[in-house]
Amino acid sequence: MAKKHILIVPGDGIGQEVTEVGKKVLEKIATKFGHDFTYDEALIGHVAIEATGDPLPAETLEKMKASDAVLFGAVGHPKYDNDPSAKVRPEQGLLKMRKELGLYANLRPIKLFDELLSASSIKPEILKGADILFFRELTGDIYFGEKGRKNNGDTAYDVAEYSRYEVERIGRKAFEAARTRKKHLVSVDKANVLESSRLWREVIQKLALEYPDVTVEYQFVDATAMLLIKDPKRFDVVVTANLFGDILTDEASQIAGSMGMLASASIGDGTGVYEPIHGSAHDITGKGLANPMASVLSAALLLDISFGMKAESEVVINAVDQVLKKGFRTGDIADATTDKSMILGTDAIGEEILKLI
Ligand code: NAI
Ligand code: MG
Repeated sequence: MAKKHILIVPGDGIGQEVTEVGKKVLEKIATKFGHDFTYDEALIGHVAIEATGDPLPAETLEKMKASDAVLFGAVGHPKYDNDPSAKVRPEQGLLKMRKELGLYANLRPIKLFDELLSASSIKPEILKGADILFFRELTGDIYFGEKGRKNNGDTAYDVAEYSRYEVERIGRKAFEAARTRKKHLVSVDKANVLESSRLWREVIQKLALEYPDVTVEYQFVDATAMLLIKDPKRFDVVVTANLFGDILTDEASQIAGSMGMLASASIGDGTGVYEPIHGSAHDITGKGLANPMASVLSAALLLDISFGMKAESEVVINAVDQVLKKGFRTGDIADATTDKSMILGTDAIGEEILKLI
């Protein structure tokens, strides 16, 4: 039995709807495994601005730091999307949260459920069994280096910069994860051209000596982009820099089918934050149509990564798998062959998942 305190931060739009299901899954797991989970809730994004004027109120940040993990929904509201001049914005809350909590590692598991094979534009025989865990460095690289203009504005530059320390800490997370999976790590860089990538490779090579049980493969990013589509099954854990990870994970998300299926974890030295990759989806907000599986799978990541509860996490993932096998779908993962009576709303499919836990 473990005692853990979880902060629920639903945020805006469908974030509210799907996080409710994610929380119920955590409650069910606690009951099933005899854990003592306590919960609190806090505001972020548009709802926080409405209530306090601040997209990340100090109280929310304090609660985040004081909890063992955060289950997060999404931020965003239509009133800001078409108004770039708005000074206070929901996404500022998200960015500040990541910075304040030092969330330097973004994990994005790309897991394809067999039942959704036909939903992809990639051939089923190539996709079947694909299961990749990306580690994208999140607080360094060209996004945070010096940037500017010279020559009267006719030349622009962005500097890609990494320190040994930054590469080592994300590398270590990836090696540790690889140990719990197939013990195979692909490190992606552009070390044939970029000095920051040469340091990246040097640090990963040195780390590899500490993890002799993990096989490391070094790839140049252009090759990885090709191999992800050609043979996604050759990947297990992938670690890469901020820019490469940004691009490769968007490419890889197509392996899993819908946005409503993809979970992510942002971790650092403190509290980990777990969230769907999708946004607040104004177009379906309040209609009960959102696919809650990304939030449910985020809860599974939370159990695995923040709490070290691998068995509990697998029970959750398996429940999602079984619900799909039974033929239940939400609208985003239904196709022409789906029996209409099997297309459920957010809460109803959530109940089916709960039944199977
Ligand atoms: P979105 O991810 O909210 O929605 C894109 C499309 O996918 C929509 O048609 C939506 O209905 C559908 N979709 C998304 N999640 C779904 C789910 N769980 N089930 C079924 N369908 C789903 O992205 P969009 O529309 O570009 O942005 C909407 C708002 O969300 C904006 O204000 C944006 O700034 C914000 N946003 C927030 C993010 C976050 O909090 N991490 C990430 C991306 C966008
Ligand atoms: Mg991106």
